[in-house]
Amino acid sequence: MHRTAALSISAIALLRACSTAGCTMAATTPRVPPPHGLLRPLAVPHRLLLGPGPSNVPPRVLAAGGLQILGHMHPEVLQVMDEIKAGIQYAFQTQNRLTLAVSGTGHCAMEAALVNLLEGGDTVLVGINGIWGQRAANIARRLGAKVCEMLKPPGEYFTLRDIQEGLAQHKPSVLFITHGESSTGVLQPLEGLGELCHRHGCLLLVDAVASLGGAPILMDQQEIDVLYTGSQKVLSAPPGSSPISFSERAREKMLRRRTKPPSFYLDMGCLGSYWSCDGEPRMYHHTVPISSIFCLREALAVLAERGLENSWEQHRVVCAQLCRGLQDLGLKLYVKEEAARLPTITTVKVPEGYDWKEITAYLMDKHSIEISGGLGPTAGKVLRIGLMGHNATQDNVDRLLQALSDALQHCQHSRL
Ligand code: GLV
Repeated sequence: MHRTAALSISAIALLRACSTAGCTMAATTPRVPPPHGLLRPLAVPHRLLLGPGPSNVPPRVLAAGGLQILGHMHPEVLQVMDEIKAGIQYAFQTQNRLTLAVSGTGHCAMEAALVNLLEGGDTVLVGINGIWGQRAANIARRLGAKVCEMLKPPGEYFTLRDIQEGLAQHKPSVLFITHGESSTGVLQPLEGLGELCHRHGCLLLVDAVASLGGAPILMDQQEIDVLYTGSQKVLSAPPGSSPISFSERAREKMLRRRTKPPSFYLDMGCLGSYWSCDGEPRMYHHTVPISSIFCLREALAVLAERGLENSWEQHRVVCAQLCRGLQDLGLKLYVKEEAARLPTITTVKVPEGYDWKEITAYLMDKHSIEISGGLGPTAGKVLRIGLMGHNATQDNVDRLLQALSDALQHCQHSRL
């Protein structure tokens, strides 16, 4: 009783006060001041990004991001979107009509693939030999799919026999596999996988975020049903727009869905209409990140001009130089089998007695070079060095090896 009475008295007092001009002013006066940090100029130091991504962005791609934007339905932007589609078809080596860039990072493309392919009750076989399989399994479970895990120790890849056994045992409708495992530095062979999956009535979904452009992938010839990548690694564009493509088989499965994909933003039916993949008039879906689209267009143009085969060869050669140099420094590569090493991201064991954090911090502080520690199952065990796209050069290998040699001498105090 007392409390109610007290409340109604103060409510009346408030109403009275609010009828004055003073109260109106108080309600429109901001109380949170402008943040100090934003009143200073933006500070972006120059660094050589030799971690697992992002890579440095070449001037041509940077310049595209600095262009004035246009409306997302202006004919020039729609033309850029068409050019991106053709560029992705080239980069993926596919004629799939349902090919476009999702508005988001490579992780968003992974979500788009799973959200559209899977629904409750589907069985998915997930190859887990690093963090990306773990992530895919996590997302698939959220979608209500039955997730069967196929495990390999980090540093190893799946053989056709492993996969054949998994398919025969679990009878999945989708197999998820990572082509370039950036957390372990392993390259997954793709030969024969698509055909094997199709013989078992299963679709093949391949994550190529860390490998596309750096190691051969031929989507149609290898009978891959869904393939995606990011923009920030070999393509050397800022993260934000990510290529993805679906085969006719994958489209048919999507058309047979009993339920709509649970994400409107990533619904490939709607996105396909917006990107005019079905030959029908375009339907607005969302506002594409225009500057990011300009950058991706230029990054794909750079790849088209260089040529896929040259790009694969460039990564192979530069990675081999790096591996030789690391071994000359007395370091040990994490992936034992040479053919299984990812040409874009090299994993090297943290040398005994060193703290990996001191090495990465030293490279950053003294040489303005980023390399990274391990991730997921390799955390604390490896250093990861990425030489991708614009950064995949002999000069960068030399610069890194010198800096690393310096770091190994100066971080000796951190020996345990
Ligand atoms: C990101 O892709 C990473 O491997 O850290």
